[in-house]
Amino acid sequence: MTGKGGTGKTTVAAALALALAAEGRRVLLVEVEERQGIAQLFETEALPYEERRIASASGGGEVHALAIDAELAMLDYLDMFYKLGRAGRALRKLGAIDFATTVAPGLRDVLLTGKVCEAVRRKDKAGWPVYDSVVLDAPPTGRITRFLNVNDEVAGLARVGPIHNQAQAVMRVLKSPQTAIHLVTLLEEMPVQETLDGIAELRALGGLQLGGVFINRVRPGGVPEADLRAAAAGHVDEAEIALGLKAAGLADSQTLAAGLSIELAEHARNVALQEREQHELAAAGQPRYELPDLTDGIDLGALYRLAEVLREQGAA
Ligand SMILES: Nc1ncnc2c1ncn2[C@@H]1O[C@H](COP(=O)(O)OP(=O)(O)O)[C@@H](O)[C@H]1O
Ligand SMILES: [Mg+2]
Repeated sequence: MTGKGGTGKTTVAAALALALAAEGRRVLLVEVEERQGIAQLFETEALPYEERRIASASGGGEVHALAIDAELAMLDYLDMFYKLGRAGRALRKLGAIDFATTVAPGLRDVLLTGKVCEAVRRKDKAGWPVYDSVVLDAPPTGRITRFLNVNDEVAGLARVGPIHNQAQAVMRVLKSPQTAIHLVTLLEEMPVQETLDGIAELRALGGLQLGGVFINRVRPGGVPEADLRAAAAGHVDEAEIALGLKAAGLADSQTLAAGLSIELAEHARNVALQEREQHELAAAGQPRYELPDLTDGIDLGALYRLAEVLREQGAA
């Protein structure tokens, strides 16, 4: 799940994870940006670098969560391939790990995606995948192409050897039909533009499957089409509004009507803008899902509601 920062990437990733966990399925929700956004959303304590069950869904479904720490992932990795064990921790003290994870960003990304892909491929003793789905709250649209294109990223670092092989294995999972890249947006000019740019960039990269466009914070309409068109064109019948308000028993209906007329015209212009953005998103040709703007904010209950909305629309 990618998208412009602040559009609801973490919220929608969490809602999708819950939706996918319905009917007894097992889902892993992962974050890689070290912000503890998942813990906050699910109202639990900070997540360690360890998979934890954080929510349940219908039919015994479960959402597990993991906050990947790039440095610890590096130690894991060194352990796995070089059996460094304690020496790895010594490297960390020396600052060598810092170097690897901050100075070589390509390597950092391959460690993060590597950990996610490991969870995707992990099997239980009977040979079944441990998770039915893995949802990644990925970096924002501006960085997603580089993040996913780990092969090129580490090409300059390693042409052979375990890092190279790791990058190849990661790329195979990312490019398999098992993986889909979803984008979150708001119906506003900037996020929509970033979404369209992101889609174009990801398509240009080739081999990756684009998923849905998740339109977040959609506000309910409520005003009839014809009235909206008239209002957008500046034709608001203030006198009629005043009459209506008076009939409803409201005092000072004239002043109220004047204020409401201004708001209605503004609302109508907004709706028109949103329609234009909807059009542009539709032209991108990916499936679209809409999530309502929940004006009371996002708590655990709200997350379950968003998950339900996603299921109703067939997103999970
Ligand atoms: N559908 C929604 N309705 C109401 N508030 C939302 C909705 N989606 C996200 N938010 C709020 O918007 C803010 C940004 O969401 P967040 O998921 O943290 O975005 P991002 O991960 O893209 O930075 C948060 O305060 C969140 O509670
Ligand atoms: Mg976030």
